[in-house]
Amino acid sequence: MKEKPDLLPRTIDTTGTLVTSKSSWWCSGFFPGSLWYLYEFSGDENFRAAAVDITSRIEKERNNTGTHDLGFMLYCSFGNGLRISNEEGYSNVLMTGAHSLATRYRPEIGCIQSWNSRIGWQCPVIIDNMMNLEFLMWAFRHSGDSSFYNICVTHSDTTINNHFRHDYSSYHVVSYDTITGRVEKKQTHQGYSDESAWARGQSWGLYGYTVMYRETGLQRYLDQALHIADFMINHPNMPEDMIPYWDFNAPDIPDAKRDASAGAVMASALIELSGMVDSVKGQSYLKVAEKQIRTLSSPEYLAKQGENGNFILKHSVGSIPGKSEVDVPLTYADYYFIEALLRYRKLI
Ligand code: GLY
Repeated sequence: MKEKPDLLPRTIDTTGTLVTSKSSWWCSGFFPGSLWYLYEFSGDENFRAAAVDITSRIEKERNNTGTHDLGFMLYCSFGNGLRISNEEGYSNVLMTGAHSLATRYRPEIGCIQSWNSRIGWQCPVIIDNMMNLEFLMWAFRHSGDSSFYNICVTHSDTTINNHFRHDYSSYHVVSYDTITGRVEKKQTHQGYSDESAWARGQSWGLYGYTVMYRETGLQRYLDQALHIADFMINHPNMPEDMIPYWDFNAPDIPDAKRDASAGAVMASALIELSGMVDSVKGQSYLKVAEKQIRTLSSPEYLAKQGENGNFILKHSVGSIPGKSEVDVPLTYADYYFIEALLRYRKLI
């Protein structure tokens, strides 16, 4: 494969050919992050060398103030590299990136702005944004600057207030009025409908509040994570094998596409959550995560070596409404699957 050095793997096309992305794509950090995890697991210096090389392709995103996805992009790559291998210079990249992300905090709203304003949405904030807070909590600990902590807590609280329905499912997009700070719209972008429960969004929320409880010890974040977990696990449309349909309210269930990425993110979050509660509840979460790992490790989802463009998992969904990346391998499904396996391994 001839590849330009600023490109990263993204998925495959219908002919099975690798599709790449630039470092500015929100998923750029997942492949280098996977390499760091494989180095952590194996100690194989070839993985470390590859991880250092691929991670360096993203460095310029430290100055990107046009996206909220810097947590995914920089913390999965540089963050893991710093944690696992203490690579020189990585903490500087991360601190610059954390300051770039913090420029998107809107005090009048109490949230980090996700996407830039566009027709119909003055200040869109998506549930996925909960995933960027681990990065800012690292920046708080590293620098001692409490403004990072305050941003994370305020964003999490505003999201509890406005993104969640009474059953603890979440909207995908909440857009705010930039002058009054009030909610202007609650909609979807990647889900089936504004009132549906887009599966990966539920997983992002579950993972995000689990992290925020770990990082702050605030009970309300544990409560929120437990409510989300219970919504997902007990949903009548959750399949027996525990890999969600792409949307819990997809109209063509049981023929709707599954989303392996939603299952992998959920499994990883549940393993962490299982250690935060009493053993009976913890075991019940762990059983679900085990089931998800077993399903994802079955021939239905796990690619044969050398197939699937060399991605690990099949059957993820990027955006069905956007007709993009439907039933394909995706780097984040692989990243969170590896993470779930490593987390599970630590328990046994
Ligand atoms: N953060 C975008 C997605 O989950 O598709």
